[in-house]
Amino acid sequence: MELNKRYRRLRSNSIVRNMVAETSLTTDNFIVPLFIIEGTNKKEEISSMPGYFRFSLDLLKTEIKELKRLGLNSVLLFVKVPDSLKDNEGKEALNPQGLMQRAVRFIKDIDPEMIVMTDVALDPYSSYGHDGIVSGQEIVNDATVEVLAAISLTHGQAGADFVAPSDMMDGRVKAIRAKLDGAGFTKTGILSYSAKYASSFYGPFRDALDSAPGFGDKKTYQMDFRNSTEALKETLLDIEEGADIVMVKPAGAYLDIIRRVKESVQVPVAAYQVSGEYAMIKAAAANGWLDEKSAMIESLTAIRRAGADIIVSYFAKDFAKLV
Ligand code: PBG
Repeated sequence: MELNKRYRRLRSNSIVRNMVAETSLTTDNFIVPLFIIEGTNKKEEISSMPGYFRFSLDLLKTEIKELKRLGLNSVLLFVKVPDSLKDNEGKEALNPQGLMQRAVRFIKDIDPEMIVMTDVALDPYSSYGHDGIVSGQEIVNDATVEVLAAISLTHGQAGADFVAPSDMMDGRVKAIRAKLDGAGFTKTGILSYSAKYASSFYGPFRDALDSAPGFGDKKTYQMDFRNSTEALKETLLDIEEGADIVMVKPAGAYLDIIRRVKESVQVPVAAYQVSGEYAMIKAAAANGWLDEKSAMIESLTAIRRAGADIIVSYFAKDFAKLV
């Protein structure tokens, strides 16, 4: 055949393929989520997230050292709060000696260079399992925002590098920025869950933290998955309010959103490959239905290709071990 273009030439071997690859993925791109529990010497596997664990603080030390050794230098902390400490206002979330605040100090003590990010939301602390204060059937916005700002300050005071509000209340980034700045914490950054969808892919995470909503769902605050322009509206507003990094969540089923956001903003874009995305690959691999490593790399690379500068993923360690 006479062909003046033969595109297969650029796929002929791995050296050429690597030379022309448009997307790269390194350990620098990752944030590692960590689940933390009270107690000592505890490392519990999360049943719906095989190979992923909740750690008590003492055991976190080895984990942090291992992450460092693997080239993973930033973590996003989530805590599992005992039922006895849950209420409607999330009072425990403000406790300077609470598990989150202790965890931040503990990690910063072990490794001051580790970038520590904290989840800011009421659901792990809420007797209703909602991300806001509940009144009747309603999740109240403004009162919740005040609490979120106060929580963020305690995280900043504990030494967090970034706070990560994951609640989707209106105006919380602005309130958090003002609260931090007002107390002199101008160096504490905000990674905002800007376009967070009401998603069934969070199921395993809610098992991990025992944080499933007690009534209803999260659709009055998290976004409707039929919408895309709304993601831009939310993200641009968060940037205006002071977000340093914006995030799309989930990732795999929202690659179009990641791309649209990336093309519309000048701040770094993160994407969260959530618990359900992890669980699906793990479950299929456990059944021998697909190859875990290649499915993992493909899913992560697709998120990068879509435009994510940063990926939060439960596969971060597995990825780092491969490279
Ligand atoms: C709650 C929160 C959730 C996740 C992160 N923060 C769950 C939810 O919104 O119900 C999900 C993360 C995951 O599924 O991996 N503030």
